[in-house]
Amino acid sequence: MIRKAKIADVPPVQKMLGEFARDGRLLARSLSELYTNLRDMYVYVDGETNQIAGCCSLHIIWENLAEVRSLAVAPSHHKRGIGRLLVQACIDEARELGIKQVFALTYKDKFFQHLGFRVVDKNIFPQKIWADCLHCPKFPECDEIALVLDLSEG
Ligand SMILES: CC(C)(COP(=O)(O)OP(=O)(O)OC[C@H]1O[C@@H](n2cnc3c(N)ncnc32)[C@H](O)[C@@H]1OP(=O)(O)O)[C@@H](O)C(=O)NCCC(=O)NCCS
Repeated sequence: MIRKAKIADVPPVQKMLGEFARDGRLLARSLSELYTNLRDMYVYVDGETNQIAGCCSLHIIWENLAEVRSLAVAPSHHKRGIGRLLVQACIDEARELGIKQVFALTYKDKFFQHLGFRVVDKNIFPQKIWADCLHCPKFPECDEIALVLDLSEG
């Protein structure tokens, strides 16, 4: 089940993100960041165990731009369509809000392309998106791939 995150989800979400962050697959998030941006986040809850097995956030950047970030699915649950559902929940919300473009910075470019995103040059984004990058251990040598989904196209 995909639902909006609740306060009690933050510790397990932080743990899951931390596990992927350890080998550089995504950015670790502090408890403070997760609590203050809680309303950005969707989680997937395993119906049998009632445990969090996936998460993804939609973070609004500017009037026409939002980022899909902190996407993670527990390895035990990969390739069951959960990642797609989480990203779709973010896209649906972006559409409802009237946002024109959703982007991701990722190493999973093929996954996002599969969902309709297209690869773009990172430099097209406003400087506002780089605020987060200052906290990234890889800054300023970012090798992530930027992808965009245009929502104004239907
Ligand atoms: C990327 C990730 C979220 C994908 O989650 P998932 O639940 O396994 O993906 P899904 O099962 O929803 O896959 C959706 C579609 O994308 C395809 N896909 C999944 N991973 C893919 C990949 N690495 N390359 C190409 N296609 C991929 C699937 O085949 C599926 O296609 P289908 O719907 O036509 O069958 C997961 O691998 C993950 O958590 N990785 C580690 C953290 C990470 O790298 N996050 C991204 C940071 S932005």
